[in-house]
Amino acid sequence: MKAAAFTDLIGPEGVDVIDRDEPEPGPGEALVDVEACAINRHDLWILEGDSAMVDADDLPFVTGLDVAGVVSEIGEDVQGLEPGDRVVLCPNETCDSCRFCREGPENMCERFSLYHGGLSETARVTADRLMPLPDGVDATTAAAIPTAYMTAFHMLRRAEVGPGDLVFVPGATGGVGVATIQLADIFGARTIGTSSSAEKLERVRDLGLDHGIESTDIDEIRGEVEEIGAPDAVINHLGGEFTELGQAVMRRGGTMAICGRTAGNESTIDVANLFLGHKRVVGSTMGTQDDLRRLVDLVADGELDPEIDETYALADTDAAFAAMQDRESVGKIVVEP
Ligand SMILES: NC(=O)c1ccc[n+]([C@@H]2O[C@H](COP(=O)([O-])OP(=O)(O)OC[C@H]3O[C@@H](n4cnc5c(N)ncnc54)[C@H](OP(=O)(O)O)[C@@H]3O)[C@@H](O)[C@H]2O)c1
Ligand SMILES: [Zn+2]
Repeated sequence: MKAAAFTDLIGPEGVDVIDRDEPEPGPGEALVDVEACAINRHDLWILEGDSAMVDADDLPFVTGLDVAGVVSEIGEDVQGLEPGDRVVLCPNETCDSCRFCREGPENMCERFSLYHGGLSETARVTADRLMPLPDGVDATTAAAIPTAYMTAFHMLRRAEVGPGDLVFVPGATGGVGVATIQLADIFGARTIGTSSSAEKLERVRDLGLDHGIESTDIDEIRGEVEEIGAPDAVINHLGGEFTELGQAVMRRGGTMAICGRTAGNESTIDVANLFLGHKRVVGSTMGTQDDLRRLVDLVADGELDPEIDETYALADTDAAFAAMQDRESVGKIVVEP
């Protein structure tokens, strides 16, 4: 079988299509004919050599978290799944025994990790992480859902966003950004989003964004947000200086949820502003398998239409990563092995 592997951690030029042996499903596992696998900034960090998870000793490395396709084989002890079933994978990997696995939420598992291996014709996965796909949900759409939409959904819920709330989303045009705009709209909230590109913001307006700010200048963005109003919640996947910005603009008692560090891993907390303003800053990673089920149901019911910028053949996986690196896309980038 063919897989798109990272053979050098130097950016998109380090992606090559390689041949691999067909995997065998072990007990509790299933094989999936991968029809679609979305890529995420997490994969790009690895490819750029900016992840503690993968180094030169792990090459060739096949990434790909967000798998959708058809079950081709099941191992021993697999219940409720048959070859031919159409499925999407929840990429969470958990220990099933720590206090968070027992009491929830499972994404707080003490040994939490993520599945990698979807950029391949066949994926060997844990069977009980597969979810059946309703008839109306195609594999490419399904592959767009897990990482970006679960993460956005979980952050909106942690920030207790509700009808009429104002939500600030720095970087509103990528996977998590667009997912947050679309889901905040479903929650009945209003949104402010930023981008370096007027054209990309225009496309996100069509997906439900209420106020677009075309700027990368922190002070300019701050002034524009203050003219619109004080956000009840900030959904921050950029980190860096956008954390100071989010804290400064949010209302008294507001919540900022943080899931990423695209703009930097270091931020400063204005301590007095935090306690005098009764503000909350919460970290959040991925979501739960039940979050994914709810999102698949929203798509099946026609309430949510995940935004896919472009699809790529497996042989063009390098171009898919180049598009992400060049900040060309709006929404998700999906590879179709
Ligand atoms: N903790 C978790 O569970 C989890 C899950 C998913 C994602 N994440 C994190 O969330 C972040 C977003 O992931 P993603 O897959 O949605 O990425 P993505 O699709 O590549 O995000 C693109 C967005 O980021 C903005 N952006 C890119 N580089 C930037 C920079 N240097 N400074 C400011 N803005 C920049 C883009 O703005 P323009 O419109 O201006 O180009 C665009 O809005 C990443 O840090 C990722 O690691 C974390
Ligand atoms: Zn656990």
